[in-house]
Amino acid sequence: MPGLSGPRRRGRIPGVKVSVLLPAAGSGERIGRGPKAFLQVGGKTLLDWALEGFSWADELVVALPPGFQKEGLKTVLGGQTRQQSVYNLLQAATGEVVLVHDVARPFVVRAAVERLMEAVRAVGAATLAVPVPDTLVREEDQQYGEVISREHYRLVQTPQAFRRAILWQAHQQARAQGIEFTDDAQLVQWLGHPVALVEGDRRMFKVTYPEDLALAEGLAQVWSS
Ligand code: CTP
Ligand code: MG
Repeated sequence: MPGLSGPRRRGRIPGVKVSVLLPAAGSGERIGRGPKAFLQVGGKTLLDWALEGFSWADELVVALPPGFQKEGLKTVLGGQTRQQSVYNLLQAATGEVVLVHDVARPFVVRAAVERLMEAVRAVGAATLAVPVPDTLVREEDQQYGEVISREHYRLVQTPQAFRRAILWQAHQQARAQGIEFTDDAQLVQWLGHPVALVEGDRRMFKVTYPEDLALAEGLAQVWSS
């Protein structure tokens, strides 16, 4: 694509080493077929999809569940929680910028990653997020409760990108205080650092429930990024 050729392609920042950290150590309980990273869609594992999506990275590090190996990769042992897995990944990462991406999101949309990298350059911390497509309502005793104005809400995706020093400080402090969050953007916000919200892409959905595998299979058949 004209204007996007050269080192800027796919989110590279000239002169800045980018490490992509892939937490892949979850047990996939909601699907119930073992660790999701090793489930296949479109003839390859979710881990291979993610690795291919970030093949441009200067460094790739993967957190794997105990007992799982993958040859030719820089790997760390996953932790009990996602946060602990990312902590282990950060200890192995050397890039000035780190990008954390759930392996459970196999489809990496290049344009969205490029938007994210622009934002991390400017702000130091950024995440992809998408609008809420449906009406959002509070469940109150199994009844239709208060409707929340959805235009002010976003569903948070990954990848999330940070200057490594900021994310490392957030993880160390949270660990010292025994605080667990479900994503890294929340950790960095808790540290008091702003996090840019960048337009994501619905194709970067997380394979979470059994039916998501069928959706992923369908998308895999027509995928080109
Ligand atoms: N993850 C991880 N280490 C953990 C828990 C989760 O590396 N201890 C990773 C998963 O492999 C996944 C991402 O974090 O790529 C998002 O987690 P989630 O979708 O919840 O995956 P699982 O924890 O495997 O699924 P479940 O919650 O259904 O068990
Ligand atoms: Mg989980």
